[in-house]
Amino acid sequence: MLAMLDSEVAPATTLKPRMHTSPINMSTTSVTSFTVDTGIYEGQKPGTSGLRKAVKIFQQEHYTENFVQAILQALGDQLSGCTLVVGGDGRFYGKEAVNKIIRIAAANGVRKLIIGQNGILSTPAVSTIIRKYKTQGGIVLTASHNPGGPDADFGIKFNCDNGGPAPDNITNKIYEITKTLESYKIIPDISVDIDKIQNISIKVDGKPFTIDIIDSVKDYLELMKEIFDFASIKKLLHGSADKPAFKVLIDSMNGVTGPYVKRIFSTELGVDDTSLVNITPLEDFGGLHPDPNLTYAKDLVNAIKQGPYDFGAAFDGDGDRNMILGKKAFFVTPSDSLAVLAANLKLIPYFQKTGIKGFARSMPTAAAIDRVAAKYGVQFFEVPTGWKYFGNLMDAKDLSLCGEESFGTGSDHIREKDGIWACLAWLNVIAGLGKSVEDILLDHWKIYGRNFFTRYDYENCNAVSADKMIQYIEISIQKPAFIGKKLQYEGKEYVVKRADNYSYTDPVDGSKTAKQGLRILFEDGSRIIFRLSGTGSSGATIRMYIDSYENDPATFVKDAQLVLKPLINIALEISELHQHIGRDAPTVIT
Ligand code: G1P
Ligand code: ZN
Repeated sequence: MLAMLDSEVAPATTLKPRMHTSPINMSTTSVTSFTVDTGIYEGQKPGTSGLRKAVKIFQQEHYTENFVQAILQALGDQLSGCTLVVGGDGRFYGKEAVNKIIRIAAANGVRKLIIGQNGILSTPAVSTIIRKYKTQGGIVLTASHNPGGPDADFGIKFNCDNGGPAPDNITNKIYEITKTLESYKIIPDISVDIDKIQNISIKVDGKPFTIDIIDSVKDYLELMKEIFDFASIKKLLHGSADKPAFKVLIDSMNGVTGPYVKRIFSTELGVDDTSLVNITPLEDFGGLHPDPNLTYAKDLVNAIKQGPYDFGAAFDGDGDRNMILGKKAFFVTPSDSLAVLAANLKLIPYFQKTGIKGFARSMPTAAAIDRVAAKYGVQFFEVPTGWKYFGNLMDAKDLSLCGEESFGTGSDHIREKDGIWACLAWLNVIAGLGKSVEDILLDHWKIYGRNFFTRYDYENCNAVSADKMIQYIEISIQKPAFIGKKLQYEGKEYVVKRADNYSYTDPVDGSKTAKQGLRILFEDGSRIIFRLSGTGSSGATIRMYIDSYENDPATFVKDAQLVLKPLINIALEISELHQHIGRDAPTVIT
């Protein structure tokens, strides 16, 4: 047995699969699966959102195969005869991975695969299709917002039959299987043209096996048309006798949302193609870092600053994240976006039908939505970072709308966050309120006050130093004397109310998730949070979150970084971040 570390690219093993020599004729053939002996790969532990590593790691012989086999085995009794959805964000290695999945799934007794044409399915589309066709789950080929290409990242994520990312008990099961996996099953010569919409049926080990290559957009588009008032959005976008057209600029960042944006915004809503940019999915995202924030989507920010646009939106590589901008690139923080949608949810036809069951946010997300929940008496939940924690609440019909500060917004229409959904939700709300993005925010803050928020990311830090820093902070904040402590910077004072390492008990199934981030909570509702990223593919990424509440209207229009300066500096002092990791500035500020 071979044991390989994922930190290095292992040499090819000598265990070659026994290949058939000629490709199988898909229309007639009955084929037999066989088993390939393999070696164990260490480190196939799914993180916040699936297994995410450098492409070169996935390209190691048997590496991808092993992980796919582990996913299938984790399905247990559900595996034989099941239907799975397969698709991804179009990044490099995606098509190769789809073909491997076809061959391995067929050999493992899967009954049917539903695959997006060209291997393309946005993460929200996978969730939509799993739910619509009641499949047993899906495999999403994405490293989300991480760069793509031969020298960048790839990822494989399993979604369950509710359409949501596999919860910890399933991902742990997958990981446990990878630790002892000694073989996988395959039919190496199945060769399918996934660029063509078609339906193929063959017999595998005497049982029927079907591959459905489907239109990547159709099911998702149908769902969006059920949720939103397309007619009023269209009216907003085109203007009327008394209202000028509302000009939008949409940026797909060369990720998977391109075909969805084209069909929804151009074909359905009649937006001019010149207002839809980077809408061809590219294997390397055209060199972009497909993460919709002020740093990586700066082309959109500049275009909106200088152009005639009333609204801008960008999405990440796999289409689940979104950034919303108003005129002159007025930035809506994801935490505010969530709160504004919560306050205006009744303008959206879907919620008029389903009612509003509850609101939720991830722990580090600013607490703006908490105030909307309190005002309307809507039940509210705080969960750990990662979309998987919202799924149980939605399945229990306790949750309608939720979001994360990391540009994730979504609802119980599916079990993933949904970038295009968020953009359409905003347009539906703007059409209903008849106000600009900026005025909507200013009016919102007048009612609720403003949660200023920022996140500092220190990427690619030395993992040992990062761990040491987290331990150091944890010890410091758990000293009894820390509670009640007055922390000051340039005249501004914050009094510590509580500090802990956040842990969560799922109210639906009682499962516990510990050590989800260090929290320092202050008397006035402001917060400092430190946690390590669970999606990075190398080194450690430290995230420092700062959430400061202000209810003086004079501060609402101030620059967030200025307002937050005292709390940012207090956080840097408490953590001794510079001393621990030697960085003077973060890699990214959002
Ligand atoms: C990051 C975000 C988190 C999000 C996840 C997947 O995870 O912080 O909110 O759910 O990406 O998009 P992290 O790297 O912080 O573990
Ligand atoms: Zn994503």
